[in-house]
This record gives sequence, structure tokens and C-alpha cells, in this order.
Amino acid sequence: MFTLAHLSDVHLSPLPSVSLPDLLSKRFIGYLSWHLRRKSIHENAILQAVINDIKTRAPDHVALTGDLVNISLVKEFDQAADWLSSFGAPDWISFVPGNHDTYVKLPWEPGLAKWSGHMTGDLNMPSTRLSGNISMAFPYVRQRKNIALVGLSSAINARWNKAGGTLGTRQLEALEQTLINLHQRGFYRIIMIHHPPLPGQAIDRKALSDASELKQVLQTAGAELVLHGHNHKDMHARLETATGMAHIFGVPSASVKKTSNKPAAAWYQYQIRRNKGEWQTDIEIRSFDDHSGSMITTSKFSLDV
Ligand SMILES: [Fe+2]
Ligand SMILES: [Fe+2]
Repeated sequence: MFTLAHLSDVHLSPLPSVSLPDLLSKRFIGYLSWHLRRKSIHENAILQAVINDIKTRAPDHVALTGDLVNISLVKEFDQAADWLSSFGAPDWISFVPGNHDTYVKLPWEPGLAKWSGHMTGDLNMPSTRLSGNISMAFPYVRQRKNIALVGLSSAINARWNKAGGTLGTRQLEALEQTLINLHQRGFYRIIMIHHPPLPGQAIDRKALSDASELKQVLQTAGAELVLHGHNHKDMHARLETATGMAHIFGVPSASVKKTSNKPAAAWYQYQIRRNKGEWQTDIEIRSFDDHSGSMITTSKFSLDV
């Protein structure tokens, strides 16, 4: 059996101190939004409860689907690199970036490169890379037992009032070949992507621009599981594919308290096993409980195939 923890949208706090030049960009909007709204709902104590709960369960692997930081300050990348290494080793946590991790255009080196150990493949396949910058590191593939984790980047430098994402033709083509290849070799395929992958799953301003194309790739090549974040809420969609049912799950932010329109922080535990020639996937949702201040199981179910 293979166990996987999925969490997303950490939105690490506190926001480091900023200088005026830091804010002469789209960051100004994010800075205001952080101080006016987000700061009061993302709490380190809640994030720590989630992390402690994951560590107690000791899953075989962790999938972290983006928005680790808030306005892509260089200091945030350093802070998050420290946080990542205190959470776990690079080969234990697979990360894919979100829109807040590419909030403004920043070179690879002072930015995402600091987390590259968590975005490095270890299964060398045609059309995938073991490492590289944002334009070529994805998709990456990691093999754990008979499970293949495929990391995608939908993170782009979106315009001032946008939070959307794009995969692009090269990544979509590489994904299709990768999924077909992995299926032929008998792997259970888990895709990690920040934005909800299907058309209509996010409002236009926040959506994946090539969701229709991705849906087509998924239908043609198949995948067992697609994990995403971005909407900060529990989501589950099914998609019929050429190789069976793909289940698509989104999780709440891992650091947030319950608000009027969004659930409290949660993470999902997946237990995947091969049973009489069929894949079996059991899911347990672990959520932060406001009343007790601790993590509780809010749902347990198995996936249909
Ligand atoms: Fe987010
Ligand atoms: Fe996001």
C-alpha cells in the first residue's frame, strides 16, 4: 500500500518586510489584499496543526500543489525554503507552483530555484526533465513503488487583476506522451497541478486558460488521480477517460480558518493499493476543527473505478 498526503495553498505568513521598490508592481495589490483580508484568516497555528497531523500519519509521500507564498518577494522564497526543509526532505514532498508563487516576473535563481529540490523528477522519460527552470522543468515525474507522480506548472505571471494559469502546448504534449507511457508500464498516475483542471471549475479571472485542452489530454491518455488547489475549497469531479475513471480533487487552503464562504484548513490522505488486479483508493479527509482547535476526520470514502 502507498499512502499520500495532499495539501495546498499554504500562503505562508508573516509577510516579510517590504521596501517601496518591492511594491512598484502588481505586488502592491497583493500587499493590500494580504493586510486587509488574508492576514486575518491564514494562521500559522492552523498550518502547524495540519503539518503535525500529516507527520503523525507518516505518509509515504506528500503532494503540495502551490501558493506556498503570497506576493513572490525574494525574502518569501527564502522563508518558504526554510519552512519546506523543516517540513520534510525534497524526495518526500513533491511541489508544483501556483499563481502566488509567480505573482510577478522573477528570475529562476532568486525565486523558484530555491525550492527546486521539491520539483525535481527522478523517473527519466521522453518529454520530461529531471530539473531546469520554470519554462522547462515541467512535467516532472517521480516514481514511488508502482505510483507515478506527475508535476505540472500552471503558474504564469498573470496580469494585475488576474489569477489564472496556463500549461501551454509543450507541457500538454509532454503530458499526453507521459501518461500513455506510464499507463503502458502499469503505473497508477497522479497528476499535481495548482489550478482546477477542468473548464468551468474556476471563474474566468482565476481559471486555467487551456483547461479544454487539458481535459482532452486526460480523456485520451487517462490518469487515476488529479490533485489541485487554488479554489481553497473541497472539490471532487469525475472524468471518463480511455483508461477508466479519473478522479479530480481540490483541497482547502492548509492554513486558513473557517470563514463564511470557505472551509477550514484540511488535508487529504490517500491510501492506494492493488487489489485483485484493480486499483483501490481510500480517502480520509482531515480538517481543522475550530471548536477543539485540533484535526479531526470529516469524511472517509473509497473511489469508484
Ligand atoms: Fe491560494
Ligand atoms: Fe492560487
